[in-house]
Amino acid sequence: MACFAKQYYASEAHYNHLQHQILASKSQFSSFPTNLTSLKNSSKRSLLLQKPLYISSLGGLGHFDESKNSKPREPLIGCSAYEARRPQPISINIEFDEQAKAAAAQKLKIGVYFATWWALNVIFNIYNKKVLNAFPFPWLTSTLSLAAGSLMMLVSWASRIAEAPKTDLEFWKALFPVALAHTIGHVAATVSMSKVAVSFTHIIKSGEPAFSVLVSRFLLGEMFPAPVYLSLVPIIGGCALAAVTELNFNMTGFVGAMISNLAFVFRNIFSKRGMKGKSVGGMNYYACLSMLSLLILTPFAIAVEGPQMWAIGWQNAVSQIGPNFVWWVVAQSVFYHLYNQVSYMSLNEISPLTFSIGNTMKRISVIVSSIIIFQTPVQPVNALGAAIAVLGTFLYSQVQSTMALYKASNLTPKR
Ligand code: 3PG
Repeated sequence: MACFAKQYYASEAHYNHLQHQILASKSQFSSFPTNLTSLKNSSKRSLLLQKPLYISSLGGLGHFDESKNSKPREPLIGCSAYEARRPQPISINIEFDEQAKAAAAQKLKIGVYFATWWALNVIFNIYNKKVLNAFPFPWLTSTLSLAAGSLMMLVSWASRIAEAPKTDLEFWKALFPVALAHTIGHVAATVSMSKVAVSFTHIIKSGEPAFSVLVSRFLLGEMFPAPVYLSLVPIIGGCALAAVTELNFNMTGFVGAMISNLAFVFRNIFSKRGMKGKSVGGMNYYACLSMLSLLILTPFAIAVEGPQMWAIGWQNAVSQIGPNFVWWVVAQSVFYHLYNQVSYMSLNEISPLTFSIGNTMKRISVIVSSIIIFQTPVQPVNALGAAIAVLGTFLYSQVQSTMALYKASNLTPKR
């Protein structure tokens, strides 16, 4: 206030001088108001009191002859008035800074989840294939993966490393169809990998979005805009090209990967329906899923392969690989659980669309690393098919995310 008053009186003392100078310079500022008397009488005070800071320099209003005005003057505008306003923008900046920091921390967290998920998945796929090459019993290895995860989680709950979830019968009932689909998808993918190259299984598995759209359209009656259907063309075309040019094509391997795609689409649909409003977090949700899947799979694994065949196969594998074979089995089982657990934990943090983009990136890392490690022969046209399929999956994710934006803003894209 003191500053304002000081500034006002300084301005009052110089007002007539200012008027004179402005009139003198009128020819240069033709748009400036000429009725300065009324300005003085009516709006001068409010102009100077309410908006004192907008006149930052008199130099811009005309030429001052300092020699004629020998009396020392106080400056019309003191910078201290400006300083009084400074805390406001600073507090806004702090808020922005904190928001930016929180956003960067969240991005880093998701980045760490994704990198861990892909790395664990690559390790699982390598050990899984090494085990299946020496011990071609996919029903047993699938069961062991689920058993290892269930055991790890039971130990974590018992030792309170992780808090056990509070579940009821309703929870398990809702989980059952999810577990059934998870079991079928898991065993089908493992059967596929026991028959064909890891890369081929994952190329076919990159076609999962096509299954998702087709199931939603023809079984659930969901309608999609034209760009979504169009984005399926490269996915289906790329997978088909990769399949027909695959050097070691095997029908069981191909059908296994296709069944896995279909089963996982149903798993996702049932998960969404069954888990609405439930409070079990990603890690414990996947633990319960493993346990229920283990119960479903064990009798089928015994019926399809059985302990007698397993015993003979195990002896063969150990004589071929040596005592380390058991560690390969442990690695494929443990890493299967870990990668799935991390993927469910990241699903907790991100949208399903971001998740599906992450999943596509994961397939690229698995395809490339398995081709290098197992020295899988790849023809250029086969690689082209794989690239088209994977690119198509990216395109699909982009189209879906654009559609989600349209939905959020209540706009309707053309069908
Ligand atoms: C499995 O064994 O369940 C499959 O390898 C899973 O494949 P995905 O998690 O990459 O879809």
